Amino acid sequence: MSNGPVLVFDSGIGGLTVLREARVLMPEHRFVYVADDAGFPYGGWDEGALTAHIVRLFQELIAKHQPVLCIIACNTASTLVLGELRDAFAATPFVGTVPAIKPAAEQTQTGLVSVLATPGTVRRAYTRELIQSFAAQCHVRLVGSENLAGLAESYIRGQPVEPAAIEAEIAPCFVTQNGQQTDIVVLACTHYPFLVNRFRALAPWPVDWLDPAEAIARRAQSLLPDRGSAGEGDDLAVFTSQTPDFAVRRLIRGFGLDFRLPAH
Ligand code: DGL
Repeated sequence: MSNGPVLVFDSGIGGLTVLREARVLMPEHRFVYVADDAGFPYGGWDEGALTAHIVRLFQELIAKHQPVLCIIACNTASTLVLGELRDAFAATPFVGTVPAIKPAAEQTQTGLVSVLATPGTVRRAYTRELIQSFAAQCHVRLVGSENLAGLAESYIRGQPVEPAAIEAEIAPCFVTQNGQQTDIVVLACTHYPFLVNRFRALAPWPVDWLDPAEAIARRAQSLLPDRGSAGEGDDLAVFTSQTPDFAVRRLIRGFGLDFRLPAH
């Protein structure tokens, strides 16, 4: 649909970090933000079940919103289901979010790179292939965090998040080897940029925290016509639970998104 919105999808609020960049680059387009909060967190799902779940969800989403393009603003989903989505919905372009291993390998000075992600993303064959193809010359440490996406959700709800809890999750990213130290940590979950200032404060030494949001937005922009023809109308947020709590609704409004029931 050439006049449809850009659909930005995540399991929760993490994709807002990508939406933010996409809107800066493409203010002429209308956006629909979809949080599959009923399925959150994606990190621990069985791969077959998650694939079937997301493809089913997109059948409804594409029929209802007729998007001009979909951004899968979730590493855990993209590294699993991007191919299936492209096959199932060939008329709709999809832009994925995958760990920024290639740019990290190009930028590291020490050759020690860490990838901070959900356990799902760390398990994926796709992630291992990215390392083999683009970072074979580096020492890449994959750090699968059970709790950080949930901690980010708590943090943006204004709930207390203990420094020690964050510190325990990021500590394995910091490697010393042959007198060299990790100098880049790839933020391979779209929830994590919300916590990056906490990460900086708790890091044992300074590193670059690589957030791919702008690169994803640029990729999406390159696939769209210059002028969005979506017309007037508020950007919309959809929650599959249909019951985001007050703090999330407030955050969503802070992002200038209209929240409406029913969810999809
Ligand atoms: N924001 C998602 C990602 O980029 C994952 C959060 C989750 O559902 O575990 O991987």
